[in-house]
Amino acid sequence: MAHQELLQLVYTSTAHGRMKSDAVRAIVETARRTNPSLDITGLLLFDGLHFFQVLEGPAEKVESLYEHIAKDPRHTRVVRILSHKVKDRNFGDWSMAYSEARPEDLAQIDGLSDHFRDGGGFANLRSGQAKLLINAFLNGIWGNRAA
Ligand SMILES: Cc1cc2nc3c(=O)[nH]c(=O)nc-3n(C[C@H](O)[C@H](O)[C@H](O)COP(=O)(O)O)c2cc1C
Repeated sequence: MAHQELLQLVYTSTAHGRMKSDAVRAIVETARRTNPSLDITGLLLFDGLHFFQVLEGPAEKVESLYEHIAKDPRHTRVVRILSHKVKDRNFGDWSMAYSEARPEDLAQIDGLSDHFRDGGGFANLRSGQAKLLINAFLNGIWGNRAA
């Protein structure tokens, strides 16, 4: 069987208007319903205004889902900050992991505390910083609030 190329794509965006947690939950539910059939896994973080999303899976499927999500009117200023081929998934166990990201949690992350304390947000993370954020999630910085 041909080896499928795995792509990990990370983008950030800004919620369109004030978004209640129920509305974000609805997005997560859609993702969890749809992504398994696309063989896509990932992570969604929401800081109250901005999204940070990781999509990983077969390259073509990730690209087309990203194009689709980018047109969603519930958010704007969609910016791809990282997309690279990977051998293994970071989120193989989650069709879409989700967590709220409170400023006090973000300010604890090694290597990113200055960025977040100085008022930097998801929207201006560089690719290396995106990887640190992903690792912080994987290392359980959000503890059992992640669901
Ligand atoms: C921040 C954000 C993240 C999203 N993530 C996903 C996702 O991972 N998978 C998915 O199927 N839809 C996701 N959506 C929803 C899609 O944009 C879209 O509403 C959904 O795929 C249904 O598409 P349809 O209305 O054309 O059927 C996301 C939307 C937003 C605003």
